[in-house]
Amino acid sequence: MPQFIPLISEAKICEKIKQIGQKISLDYNDKDLVLIGILKGSIIFLSDLTRQITIDHEIDLIGASSYKGTSSIGKINLYKKPVLNLSGRDVLLVEDIVDTGRTLSKLVEFVTSLHPKSLKICTLIDKHERREVEIDVDYSCFLLEKGFIVGYGLDYNEKYRNLPAIYDLKL
Ligand code: IMP
Ligand code: MG
Repeated sequence: MPQFIPLISEAKICEKIKQIGQKISLDYNDKDLVLIGILKGSIIFLSDLTRQITIDHEIDLIGASSYKGTSSIGKINLYKKPVLNLSGRDVLLVEDIVDTGRTLSKLVEFVTSLHPKSLKICTLIDKHERREVEIDVDYSCFLLEKGFIVGYGLDYNEKYRNLPAIYDLKL
């Protein structure tokens, strides 16, 4: 039976997202902000983050997958492109967790080809252990050295996204 070891509480997540939302609101004041959530892991984070941002902004989604189980399969599949025209706009990519950095480096390359005015990265979790590609994370809620976590949008084989807090998964 898998074990779920509590790691980050609902209250901690909520408090941190409030702070990051305030910071983004200040940094993007007078800018043309578009949040782009990376499917599917970021949807719960995105839905809380957007409500903590007090300036006008738009939302879109991009679909990228790389994972089966707890280890990367190496290739990234870009299965859904954003609908909005991003040219000349201030794009903030919203990710659940940066692990090897491959997904984001591929997405940064793709979004850059759409000619945004600026492109930054916001992640709920910045996990360091397996980083392969250098990624400049502009906003990060929590740092994690290692482990495989689930809940609050993060899955293991598509399950456990619905857990309201974040847990270390021990299989
Ligand atoms: P990367 O391309 O290796 O940086 O992988 C990023 C993607 O892997 C994230 O968007 C997650 O979907 C998934 N991922 C990486 N680590 C974890 C984890 O600890 N729990 C759940 N998903 C993870
Ligand atoms: Mg995932």
